[in-house]
Amino acid sequence: MQRLWRHARLATLVDGGWGLIEDGALVTEGEHIRWVGPLAALPASMEIGEEIGLDGALVMPGLVDCHTHLVYGGDRAAEAEMRLNGAGYEEIARAGGGIRSTVSATRAASEDALLHGARRRAQALMAGGVTTLEIKSGYGLSLEAEAKCLRVARRLGREVPVQVRTTYLGAHALPPEFEGRSDDYVDAVCHWMRALHAQGLVDAVDAFCESIAFSPVQVARVFEAARALDLPVKLHAEQLSDQGGAQLAASFGALSADHLEYLSDAGIAAMRAAGTVAVLLPGAYYMLRETRQPPVAALRAAGVPIAVASDHNPGTAPGLSLPLAAHMACTFFRLTPLEAVAGITHQAARALGLHDRGLLRAGLRADFAVWELNHPNELVYWFGHDPCRAVVQGAEVRT
Ligand code: NIG
Ligand code: FE
Repeated sequence: MQRLWRHARLATLVDGGWGLIEDGALVTEGEHIRWVGPLAALPASMEIGEEIGLDGALVMPGLVDCHTHLVYGGDRAAEAEMRLNGAGYEEIARAGGGIRSTVSATRAASEDALLHGARRRAQALMAGGVTTLEIKSGYGLSLEAEAKCLRVARRLGREVPVQVRTTYLGAHALPPEFEGRSDDYVDAVCHWMRALHAQGLVDAVDAFCESIAFSPVQVARVFEAARALDLPVKLHAEQLSDQGGAQLAASFGALSADHLEYLSDAGIAAMRAAGTVAVLLPGAYYMLRETRQPPVAALRAAGVPIAVASDHNPGTAPGLSLPLAAHMACTFFRLTPLEAVAGITHQAARALGLHDRGLLRAGLRADFAVWELNHPNELVYWFGHDPCRAVVQGAEVRT
């Protein structure tokens, strides 16, 4: 059945601009967009089964959060307090806190408890317009616990009306039982990848390339294993120092390299050549009170696609609003509002290897968000509340 969504101000984002259409209409069929344009130009041949009036609200593509760590046990509020009292992130990590403390809490949590926490957080993101969500593992760090977290992510995608893409991040941190044996752990990560993939739990593979995590040589082994399974890769790269991670990721044709505060010119050139998306994570930059900014002007000049994500995680980015992340990308990193909005829609979809969403265009998925706003630039103007009236996913109203 074809459904007509009428009387909307559309921001289609097609052709590199806002793509504004006053008194616009969308026709959807099944889960896809069949037609987009001014209501007055609606072809008479369309057989409309149902009409939904949108009262002149702003309709934009559903938002895509392309980098989150949504499934975990516990929280790190005490660690945040320590940091506010002067301790550093790396110092806490080296002392066994940081990611490892979340690993203990995640291992101890039941699958249902993890689902409960992740569902609440997913609903908060959806209230801010999100219709597609990437979720990384990386707080289990054993085959059993990584599988548990990835199963929770899959269940979330079935039980909550948001589309979930899973990323296996076994190479996030060294678990205590592998202390002093990081190469053995990398072997285990590669081995588990095959088992997790065989269970249908993995859409992509990620790693944390950093002096407090895994070296480029170790990450390359993880990526070789992913390549052997035909799985796309992404990388936490150049967050705290320049490890040459972006070049490494690009050499494997990575979908994205993420963080990038310490990205070099060589990294930018390699990403450009490989078509690797730069995913900026201003929430972590903000929470860590980082002062070094990712080289946005150079990325822009090189034509590297730029996306923005929440990086939601309990340690460095506990925020749950993607529009706020986009707002911060403008304020801190000098993205233009149009770049930031593209960064949380079609560029974010690209960072997940998805080419069927992120714009309002015939043939793409009918995933959109309805906003109590006049112009899409307001999405990165207001902060502290997300004036999202509804999200529509696959042509069904979900909230
Ligand atoms: O994306 N950089 C590594 N991973 C997370 C932080 C994880 C944590 O501190 O729990 C990030 O910022
Ligand atoms: Fe992250």
